[in-house]
Amino acid sequence: MSEPATPPSPDGVPVLGNGMAFSRDPFGALEEWASHGPVVRLQFPGRSMYLVTDPDLVEEVLVERQDKFAVGRDQQETFSGIEDDALAGTTGERWERLRRALRPAFTWEKIDGYGARMARRTAEHVEQWDAERLDLHREMRLLTLRILGDTLLGVDVRGNERVILDAADALVDRADPRRFGRLLPEWIPTPTERRFERNVEALNDYVETVLDGRSTEGDDVRSVLLAARDRGDLTLSEVEDNLVGLLLAGHDSSAVTLTYAWLELGRHPEVRESMVREVEEVVGDDLPDTGDFEDLERVRNVVRETLRLYPPAWAVNRQTTEQVSLGGYELPAGAQLTLPQWVLHRDDRYWEAPTTFDPDRWTRDVTRPEYAYFPFSGGPRHCIGMRFARLELTMALATMATSVDLDVTTDGPLAFRPSLTLRPTVDIEATVNHR
Ligand code: HEM
Repeated sequence: MSEPATPPSPDGVPVLGNGMAFSRDPFGALEEWASHGPVVRLQFPGRSMYLVTDPDLVEEVLVERQDKFAVGRDQQETFSGIEDDALAGTTGERWERLRRALRPAFTWEKIDGYGARMARRTAEHVEQWDAERLDLHREMRLLTLRILGDTLLGVDVRGNERVILDAADALVDRADPRRFGRLLPEWIPTPTERRFERNVEALNDYVETVLDGRSTEGDDVRSVLLAARDRGDLTLSEVEDNLVGLLLAGHDSSAVTLTYAWLELGRHPEVRESMVREVEEVVGDDLPDTGDFEDLERVRNVVRETLRLYPPAWAVNRQTTEQVSLGGYELPAGAQLTLPQWVLHRDDRYWEAPTTFDPDRWTRDVTRPEYAYFPFSGGPRHCIGMRFARLELTMALATMATSVDLDVTTDGPLAFRPSLTLRPTVDIEATVNHR
């Protein structure tokens, strides 16, 4: 009998394996490794990982054979100690129960009811900007947090933004795969781990006050979770952790998308102008609403293209539940898989001039495999906030486009941090001119 085929492994260095190349240039390394084949085995200190970069295999893992691929250990470890009982880090029956409990707050009907409020919060936020230089990513985080709190979550975050942003920053630091401390057990208190614990405690205290004595009447997430607790479907700790989870997962991905959209619109004034014209035609002097979503095609294509070129979730993580064959290779039980949006979204087999920001590509008739583009992942575990995020990004961008001109600059060549979201490593600043 012949030996089962094992995937190719790009050369690494002794001890550190492929970790050295990743530390030096994470996204360049992913692209280089992907050139070795659709499934590649990588070696890092103490762990190995399979990189899957063929769209049909991605679809197999996420959708067709999803029962053989659970959310991976890396993802579970990232959220441990902050949201152990939240959706993103759980598997099996518990995940199903939590997702079922959250679903009523995420129906299309509910989400569609938030469009006008998303636009109003955006208009209010940009009105208070003066002409000084702004930290664009931070401003976009404050905006998306406020929108999230005021719509889906039913939580007024004003005055407490700092607690939430600090906890998110600590989580991002801790989740950076290049961090040396990740190789140490958690009880060895590295400075990152200590900061993480401090910030998480502050966020937990805040969420407790938010839940204290609240009603279960509304249809926002907070009420839906509390009602599920009253019915005995969720524990209090599950309620708290899921609110924490949504406060964190629900703001930064949208904020980085808006940040990169403005950066690219600054580089492509003709795209910006045509977008403004469309908004003026569709919305007139009013603020946009959900009813305008379909007609704001240019704005939606700017959002789609930004999510292609700068996928906020740059990779999805899975692990095999048993020995499986994938793409003709045998993978052992417990194998860790990375499915990188970054690589597939920039693969020139599916995208013409892949590194060019070109929202018009979405109006051309091109056939490509479905999973050449999966910013929100796919299958039963796809992003629960997908519809919310698409509406929010469209409403926010359309509102901003007709209220302000932003002159956007970076303090060096654009580069990214390979952590939970695709954050920039350089400062991105904007000077504001009100229209
Ligand atoms: C541009 C914005 C966003 C992007 C690109 C994005 C992307 C993703 C991706 C790729 C996943 C992983 C799914 C998987 O493991 O297969 C995910 C999961 C998740 N996202 Fe989002 N997301 C965004 C916005 C949001 C928002 C606004 C919310 C909440 C309001 C949210 C809540 C979640 C939650 C709770 C999960 C875990 C789902 C589960 O495991 O069942 N996300 N998101």
